[in-house]
Amino acid sequence: MRFEVRDNQEDAQWSGAELQARLAGVDAVLLDPASRLDATAIDACPGLVLVSNIAVGYNNVDVGACTRAGIPVTNTPDVLTDATADHAWALLMSAARRVVESDRWTRAGHWQRFAFDSFLGAQVQGATLGILGMGRIGRAIARRAQGFAMCTLFHNRHAPAVSQAEESGAQWVPREELLRRADFLVIVVPYSRETHHLIGTQELASMKDGSILINIARGGVVDDAALAQALRAGRPAAAALDVMENEPHVHPALLDLENIVLTPHIASATRAARRGMVGLAVENLEAVLAGERPAALVNPEVWERRRERAG
Ligand code: GLV
Repeated sequence: MRFEVRDNQEDAQWSGAELQARLAGVDAVLLDPASRLDATAIDACPGLVLVSNIAVGYNNVDVGACTRAGIPVTNTPDVLTDATADHAWALLMSAARRVVESDRWTRAGHWQRFAFDSFLGAQVQGATLGILGMGRIGRAIARRAQGFAMCTLFHNRHAPAVSQAEESGAQWVPREELLRRADFLVIVVPYSRETHHLIGTQELASMKDGSILINIARGGVVDDAALAQALRAGRPAAAALDVMENEPHVHPALLDLENIVLTPHIASATRAARRGMVGLAVENLEAVLAGERPAALVNPEVWERRRERAG
């Protein structure tokens, strides 16, 4: 037997304290992004040699505390890029063409006759796409936009290498310009203290007339209460969220709105992507336990320190 596994087959939602109790005496932990591993839990588990997060985002883990404790943290990039970009597009199209809203209406038995002006939506072809956070997933979203002859703008804190931008046919603009010009604004930035409520009342108010906001990044990047108010006022015209503040609890003011599409944090949920994520998380784990550098290391400084000590 290579590993003794303590699993969570019943998929119980453990509190921080419960997770900490289960980690006693454990060498490595495979974690989903809904499980929080804070500094208290990390400090209470001196035997831990790896945190292998089964997600590309890792804001659920206190990486700083892991680094201080010399624990490598790994994640699962690349394997979910296409699935996640597809879902951004599924949300974009659903919100643009009011798919969920008209489905609800049809099921409710309201459809009596064809009406020329029924459920008029937003044109995607030739529109301006804005991407806030141009990493791997942002670039995959931008590549798909080329098929719709869109003008793609993006903003990252640092203007990127020209070759990366050219590859996805997108142009860097300042954040204010992105908000002002985008017909569809997709949020793909990682969550951190710096990106908390990056999109709030003021940013929403500066969005273009008729625009649509899509958040596939993390809850908390968008201020959901402010978004509910803004949607009620009609700017942006619509929104689609795969991630929410305080998920799985959805802000009640969002639930009352027709002009929003909500999905339960499923952007990477294809069989292929989820298999890829688990596969990479296990590869990361096997590598670290074999003393090798893992493929996807979030805090490489831990590894460098180890090498220096060994050398
Ligand atoms: C999912 O949300 C991920 O970060 O992979």
